[in-house]
Amino acid sequence: MDKPILLTSALPYANGPLHMGHMVEYIQTDIYSRFLKLIGKKSIYVCADDTHGTPIEVNATKQGKTPEEFIKHWFMKHTEEMKAYGIEHDSYYTTNSKENQHFTNLLFGRLKEKGLIYTKEIELMYCENDKRFLPDRYVKGICPKCGAKDQYGDNCEKCGATYTPVDLIESYCSICKEKPVRKMSEHYFFKLSSFSEKLKTYLSGNDRLQPEIKKQILNWIKEGLEDWCISRDAPYFGFKIPGEENKYFYVWLDAPVGYLASTANYFESVEKAEQCWNDSEVVHFIGKDIIYFHLLFWPAVLMGAGFKPADNVVVHGFLNINGEKMSKSRGTFFTAEDFRKISNTEFLRYYFAANLTHSMTDIDLNIDDFKARINNELVANIANFAYRTLSFTNKSFGSKLGKIRNSMILEEVKRKAELAKTAYLELDYRKALSAVLEISSIGNKYFQDNAPWAMIKENKDETLMVMTDCVNILKDLMIVLKPIMPNFVSEIETQLGLEALAWKDLDMKIENHEIRTAKIIIQKIEKIELSLPDKKEETEKEEGEAFAKLNLKVAKVIGVSEHYKADKLLLINIDLGKGETRQLVAGLRPFYEDPQVLVGKHIICVTNLEHANLRGEMSQGMLLAAETEDVKTVMVVEAPDSEPGSQVFIEGIEIGKETIKFDDFMKTGIYVHDSKIMYKGKQLQTDSEKISSKIKSGKVR
Ligand code: MSP
Ligand code: ZN
Repeated sequence: MDKPILLTSALPYANGPLHMGHMVEYIQTDIYSRFLKLIGKKSIYVCADDTHGTPIEVNATKQGKTPEEFIKHWFMKHTEEMKAYGIEHDSYYTTNSKENQHFTNLLFGRLKEKGLIYTKEIELMYCENDKRFLPDRYVKGICPKCGAKDQYGDNCEKCGATYTPVDLIESYCSICKEKPVRKMSEHYFFKLSSFSEKLKTYLSGNDRLQPEIKKQILNWIKEGLEDWCISRDAPYFGFKIPGEENKYFYVWLDAPVGYLASTANYFESVEKAEQCWNDSEVVHFIGKDIIYFHLLFWPAVLMGAGFKPADNVVVHGFLNINGEKMSKSRGTFFTAEDFRKISNTEFLRYYFAANLTHSMTDIDLNIDDFKARINNELVANIANFAYRTLSFTNKSFGSKLGKIRNSMILEEVKRKAELAKTAYLELDYRKALSAVLEISSIGNKYFQDNAPWAMIKENKDETLMVMTDCVNILKDLMIVLKPIMPNFVSEIETQLGLEALAWKDLDMKIENHEIRTAKIIIQKIEKIELSLPDKKEETEKEEGEAFAKLNLKVAKVIGVSEHYKADKLLLINIDLGKGETRQLVAGLRPFYEDPQVLVGKHIICVTNLEHANLRGEMSQGMLLAAETEDVKTVMVVEAPDSEPGSQVFIEGIEIGKETIKFDDFMKTGIYVHDSKIMYKGKQLQTDSEKISSKIKSGKVR
């Protein structure tokens, strides 16, 4: 049983920040991965961003970005957060990669060859305005059962009824609010229904799966499996289906394939990844909401394509905060970044470990409990034992150790360490941490009982031996704690004057060794608050109303000249109505052969932008310009039918009153779509016209 172990965590969507719920899973997997490495097992931990699907494509467009730019941004944010929480992947990759495309095509090709794929016409909801088919979540309307308004197309959050979008009353497209129509489209299906027996055998024969989960899945199989639609119509961000022009693989087909792709990234070889997959023990860590995908679809796809299904799937529960679901409106939707601003990230690793067992029960982040555990256990017990041991040895023995005095106590510590090992292997971190705390208590009690501060006055030699025992206990304690708090332990290793410790170093005796200077690493939490009072308002502003900061007005260009110092810049004099004139500095020179054509145009100016000195010339605002995706063409946005001074606005959104910074403007995300100048799906306008551009699609800045 010495196969390498391949660990995976579910791939976060590249569609927003990592939140505290995500961290449960990444910390859980990371602790296991670090533990395996610590005991000398060969293991590889892979993950990636899940980058495809409708929401990513829609949200990118809303922000005036290409999907590629959009996912790149989130990739950077995600990797930064993973690092901050000490999550150490052997490969963190992306599903938008050539390796992922390779494996997706490979699996699909093999399934097709075996007759496990077929096509069929189905009826879907279609928005004629957005020219796209709408996934269930993009159709909203009145629940046909209970009459609740604004419910999604798949189920009602009020009464729990499930239905199809066609059943909704007064349905509308959630992107543009227009009424969608029904439309037929041909789609690809995977014959999941033919896998009932194989899946049953796979599940029943696997005694590592959590029994409650096994039961649930076997029940689903008994109720009958339906074939699975694995294609989506354009526009979509994903991989095109081979031989098709307008059809893409559904994101949930290529997402788990990302596990293979990330492994290939690790080996820099798809062949080695395939071999590794089939030769190792594959363990997926997932949350309870995605069981269906990982224990039905994915194993069936793998088996159908001649790959082996995972050896184990570890399912964890959901995170609640102070007893309640995380919620944006209650101000308890914490991003990982929010939390790291108020707490040491290893405190969270400690707290989650204390609450994680191998079960699907939900976890509560209770802030009083959090504080109590950190202060009473981690700081007062563990860190205190480290500091008193090391500093006493520094002070009384010039940091030099002697011989061990009490091997019995060290044996007792080893037995506790064994318990911790079993617990880690069983993914019962709560139990592992109990063993850690027992070791720490043994150490503290030994220190206290021997009272080295008094003993040293009677018998210095024996006191040195007591301290040597304490240092050995501390070393063992650090080994056992290491998967949970790698940074803390690494600092203590330095103070101990030791190299990076491994599990086998439990057998090492430290005698006649010189330690380094003790330092306090962590301190008690004085006050911590887990509510973000301004949070609700802030997210609303961020999500809905970045535009509400702007004050845009129509201006007439009255003169254009070139900046004497910078050949890309133009000085543009404008008339803002009622006798107000201003000078703008704009980087437009490369895009206008004859800049004088600008004179007389009615353009749009951001009037409440902080004035800036651009290479010696004052810029008292900024004009809106639209640019194509390749940024080869840039054109000023015009409002030819509006008088200078006219307000530019979006219905229902306020006008900015305060002065804003350039960055605030850049965050707004105005864009061109179908030649319309848009913000979050709504077109900019004045009282006389709707604003458009000759550029079809791209960004506005
Ligand atoms: N992209 C899919 C997974 C594809 S795996 C091939 C996805 N992404 S997710 O970002 O929504 O979730 C990623 C993981 O975080 C999932 O395992 C999910 O269960 C977990 N969690 C998301 N919210 C959570 C909590 N509030 N609490 C605990 N885990 C949660 O699903
Ligand atoms: Zn629409």
